[in-house]
Amino acid sequence: MIESIQQRRSIRKYTSDPIDPEKLQSVLEAARLAPSGNNMQPWTFIVVQSEQQRQAVMETSHHQTWMMEAPAFIVAVADMAARSDADLAIYLDENSPHWELKRAIRDTAIAIENMLLEADAQGLGTCWVGFFVQSEIRPVLGIPNNKFVLGVIPIGYPAEQPPARQRKPLTDIVRYEKW
Ligand SMILES: Cc1cc2nc3c(=O)[nH]c(=O)nc-3n(C[C@H](O)[C@H](O)[C@H](O)COP(=O)(O)O)c2cc1C
Repeated sequence: MIESIQQRRSIRKYTSDPIDPEKLQSVLEAARLAPSGNNMQPWTFIVVQSEQQRQAVMETSHHQTWMMEAPAFIVAVADMAARSDADLAIYLDENSPHWELKRAIRDTAIAIENMLLEADAQGLGTCWVGFFVQSEIRPVLGIPNNKFVLGVIPIGYPAEQPPARQRKPLTDIVRYEKW
């Protein structure tokens, strides 16, 4: 597993080859099997493949034009309503303070990382895109206002092999017994 984690990269150049449907299913299956608090599974994944919809999503993602090279996007949506009876008419955005939303985001993030790693294992490249505007992306995909889009994951066969990006050393980030 550590070798898989070491070799994964964010990929921003893709070939035009369509994704093998079985590989895509396997990536989604990796998300489905992710752990979540109380096993609430507060997530939904939208697979976007049409040129028109990908273009619209890219435009809500601050026009990150490189995204269009990927033949598919997986949009990961955190669903706080799956975790609580909270007001279903609530409007969520980047400033929402709700604890239940934070928990749904936490769980959905785990599912996304599962997808990134399984995609890599299937020979596919991905890049978690988090730089988009919540209020713009939701209407493009018909997502209700009480759901929170956590990430857009362009996915496809990689056409680049970027070097590893630097990480902090363990000595900077691990403490023992206390802070
Ligand atoms: C939550 C999150 C949001 C990100 N958003 C973007 C983004 O909008 N655009 C982009 O090009 N990369 C984005 N990235 C990719 C990061 O830049 C990348 O993971 C980081 O530089 C480390 O590189 P690596 O993934 O190749 O190890 C995002 C990554 C994460 C985890």
